[in-house]
Amino acid sequence: MKKLTKAVFPVAGMGSRFLPATKASPKEMMPIVDKPLIQYAVEEAVAAGITDMIFITGRNKRAIEDHFDKAYEIESELEQRGKHELLAIIRGIIPKHVNCIYIRQSEALGLGHAILCAQPIVRDEPFAIILADELIDAKPAAISQMAAIFEREQCSVLGVQNVPREQTQSYGIVKTEPESGLERITAIIEKPAPAVAPSTLAAVGRYILTPTIFKYLASIRPGAGGELQLTDGIALLLEEERVFAHQILGTRYDCGSKLGYLKATVGYGVKHDEAGPEFREWLKEFQ
Ligand code: UTP
Repeated sequence: MKKLTKAVFPVAGMGSRFLPATKASPKEMMPIVDKPLIQYAVEEAVAAGITDMIFITGRNKRAIEDHFDKAYEIESELEQRGKHELLAIIRGIIPKHVNCIYIRQSEALGLGHAILCAQPIVRDEPFAIILADELIDAKPAAISQMAAIFEREQCSVLGVQNVPREQTQSYGIVKTEPESGLERITAIIEKPAPAVAPSTLAAVGRYILTPTIFKYLASIRPGAGGELQLTDGIALLLEEERVFAHQILGTRYDCGSKLGYLKATVGYGVKHDEAGPEFREWLKEFQ
């Protein structure tokens, strides 16, 4: 029985939809209330018992490494000023038993290529992929929901949600059929036009994959947008192994888009311990 201990966070994309905010700093460091997107993603992995966090980074991504590193100056400053609560928050960003590993994707050749960059560390283990810009507010966390299926079935699991048919062109869309009380994926297509999409079930940035995927990622050619597409690798994987779709229960915010990011800020803002009550009052009067 294989246990899930590794998660890959591809963070080497351009973030062009958020320029100029992402000109010099990573999209994944944009905060939702008071935490950067990448921290929500890492917390989701930690909640699922994952201990090795593998970041696929690129240019302008140093802030991510700094965020998960010890910050001696800030810590001693907070200590001197007696700000113990803040000190505990800073020190608790990453639990002590968790390892952070950074791999550089020298060229942004696509999500499939970013995942292939993780192969030397992942090797022959199953692993999770979390796209930090797809923020999912869920209990249990999205990856934990999927890990339960992985642990039982020992095969790949894709996190999916229903999207409006007119949006299929923004996602990898899966076709499924029922098998052992689950939905087995029989086809996956990257960004199909609404008229030809085989369903409205979209892959939403959460994957648990077996290492067999690497063989296929190494063999595929650039697909949609001239990029090496993870979807194309998964399309080959499901011819060899069972791959299940799990409909994630929870609220998803596409924080790679401006509208999704704004919605996430409101969604998390109204629930925030400190700022939430006043924010909710303010929202009632706003407009
Ligand atoms: P996106 O399609 O959201 O691209 O990538 P992007 O560059 O981040 O954003 P836009 O579209 O230019 O605004 C999906 C995920 O894959 C990662 C991104 O960091 C993001 O988490 N990615 C994409 C890589 O790590 N490397 C790549 O070559 C491409």
